[in-house]
Amino acid sequence: PEAITVGELAKRMGEKGADLVKELFNLDMMVTVNQTIDQDTAELLVEQFGHTIQKVSEADVDIQTTEDDDPVETMVPRPPIVAVMGHVDHGKTSLLDALRKTNVTRGEAGGITQHIGAYQVTTKDGSKVTFLDTPGHAAFTEMRQRGANVTDIVVLVVAADDGIMPQTIEAIKHAKAANVPMIVAINKIDKPEANAQKIRERLLEHEVMVEAMSGDVQDVEISAKNGTGLEELIEKIALQAELLELKARPDRPAEATVVEAQLDKGRGPVATVLINRGTLKRGDTFVVGTESGKVRAIVNDQGKQIKEAGPSMPVEVLGLGGVPSAGELLTVVENEQRAREVAQYRQEKATEKRTALAPTSFDTMFNKSN
Ligand code: GTP
Ligand code: MG
Repeated sequence: PEAITVGELAKRMGEKGADLVKELFNLDMMVTVNQTIDQDTAELLVEQFGHTIQKVSEADVDIQTTEDDDPVETMVPRPPIVAVMGHVDHGKTSLLDALRKTNVTRGEAGGITQHIGAYQVTTKDGSKVTFLDTPGHAAFTEMRQRGANVTDIVVLVVAADDGIMPQTIEAIKHAKAANVPMIVAINKIDKPEANAQKIRERLLEHEVMVEAMSGDVQDVEISAKNGTGLEELIEKIALQAELLELKARPDRPAEATVVEAQLDKGRGPVATVLINRGTLKRGDTFVVGTESGKVRAIVNDQGKQIKEAGPSMPVEVLGLGGVPSAGELLTVVENEQRAREVAQYRQEKATEKRTALAPTSFDTMFNKSN
């Protein structure tokens, strides 16, 4: 039997809490709006007020999100999501810049505005790869803690003139813990003091065995500075992606993971999301964490407004009710009422959790007095 607070029941009935308390008083029950009553009493009250009972289970109120409830035949291949990780200054951002530059030459002239730390690159054969820049790994860690593993492949950037450093080791641990395949990009190979072989040997100490050391981790020597090895890196990513057989259903309401979010002075709360499945469209109503919202604009990695975004696409979403946290799931729902309902339900759950953790004032008073 479920219990409910008088206040919550009143809200669901669209009545005043005080009126319910009065009615309960008439039934010889002295309770306040914050106290819980059992299911039978609640049902009795509902009938007293001439309402009908609609039983809503938790599963109905909240949105269940599972990864594999789309029938296989509806799923189509999606681009891999690649997190570029590594120690500070080893060249993560340079690598991404270089990869995007090769992209720019075949199409849009001029510089690409760097809006978000997530970009999509189109390879020679027309396939796409989504890259995530991971400064400080903070977002990645946060996402993992929330159980959101958006990354399909990790590209570990190691500067050949510097070697295995603390954040390199951290990145290896992340990839292993998340069970994500890794490709080692030995960077700055253009430098005279670069020693790629030493890197390969050192990686053994961290149980990363690259192919050249007869292991199965792919490695490639690159120079983000002058473009050496970038094609090969893309090929290795494509090969790895093929093995993973990444698929998602595009023709369904979107589900996306928040990568980062902030309050933008001009635009309000803005979230960078990766579409997990489905297609996000302008005007869609959604829930993200404890907030509901309506997609006012979708902005792609080149700063352009687009009408919709499909699986594995990184986009900025405008029209949120608040700033969500990294790793939270954005789920499109049928209508605004449903969005508000779910958001409210989650807010209540969150409050309940907080209240459960804090001792009630009664407990405190009585325990302290003796
Ligand atoms: P954080 O974001 O601070 O963790 O650094 P990062 O890993 O993004 O490194 P970034 O791309 O900012 O590069 C750091 C420095 O290394 C810059 O001065 C780059 O110009 C230089 N650099 C990056 N790649 C190469 C390369 O292949 N060769 C040489 N010679 N320099 C490089
Ligand atoms: Mg960087």
